[in-house]
Amino acid sequence: MRKPLVMGNWKLNGTKESVTALVNALKAPADKAAGKAEVAVCAPAVFIGMVEQLATGSSLKWGSEDCDIHTQGAYTGENSPVMLKEFGCTYAIVGHSERRDYHKESSEYVAQKYQAAQANGLIPVLCVGESEKEFEEKRTMDVIRSELKAVIDLCGIQSFEKAVIAYEPIWAIGTGKTATPEIAQSVHSEIRAYLATFDAAVAEKVQILYGGSCNAKTAPELFAQKDIDGGLVGGASLKAPDFTAIIEAAVANA
Ligand code: PGA
Repeated sequence: MRKPLVMGNWKLNGTKESVTALVNALKAPADKAAGKAEVAVCAPAVFIGMVEQLATGSSLKWGSEDCDIHTQGAYTGENSPVMLKEFGCTYAIVGHSERRDYHKESSEYVAQKYQAAQANGLIPVLCVGESEKEFEEKRTMDVIRSELKAVIDLCGIQSFEKAVIAYEPIWAIGTGKTATPEIAQSVHSEIRAYLATFDAAVAEKVQILYGGSCNAKTAPELFAQKDIDGGLVGGASLKAPDFTAIIEAAVANA
């Protein structure tokens, strides 16, 4: 049985005050969910040390929204997986569509980030998903297969034993247009089927999260789907009551 995982992705949001209030409010729901569902927040790098101080001792885990491929050196502005690990991160999101798009990150580069995260003890959360145009052209699985293949080529299929996948249709991110549970389930099951062509046991075990306008209203039905193992939540993860309701939806389906 796969344990559900609910992960917040704060993106470029937060103040010292809001981060303190949010983390403090999420500790009890994370503790209550413990054993049934995992709960994590991925924060802007500048807040990670604060999150570590606030969340240590609770069941709430934390991670970064990205990580560099290098461990140290002359790479101005980057954050290395070694640094993230030192500040207690469990997870590192890699290949979010906003980074693939705004920072022109190729699937090969994302695979290097995934590899660097894993090599330094972080669990990479690999985001995959199609644009609206690709969705309309029914190219969803072509896009996702090539995003997954880049990682399989570099790191091997067994690497997914220590990774999480997030299916995030780009047309659903921040738009309020959640994929229907049927669409999401069918893509998740196709992702699993694709991975199973390499290794059936790995495919069965890997957590596949849904992301894209996942909120308190849509989460229960999404999480009830057989191949949806939780959510990567943007906007709704910034409000403690909404994120708590999403955690409860995951627990109800655990
Ligand atoms: P959203 O973002 O929940 O605000 O749509 C999800 C994500 O981009 O991870």
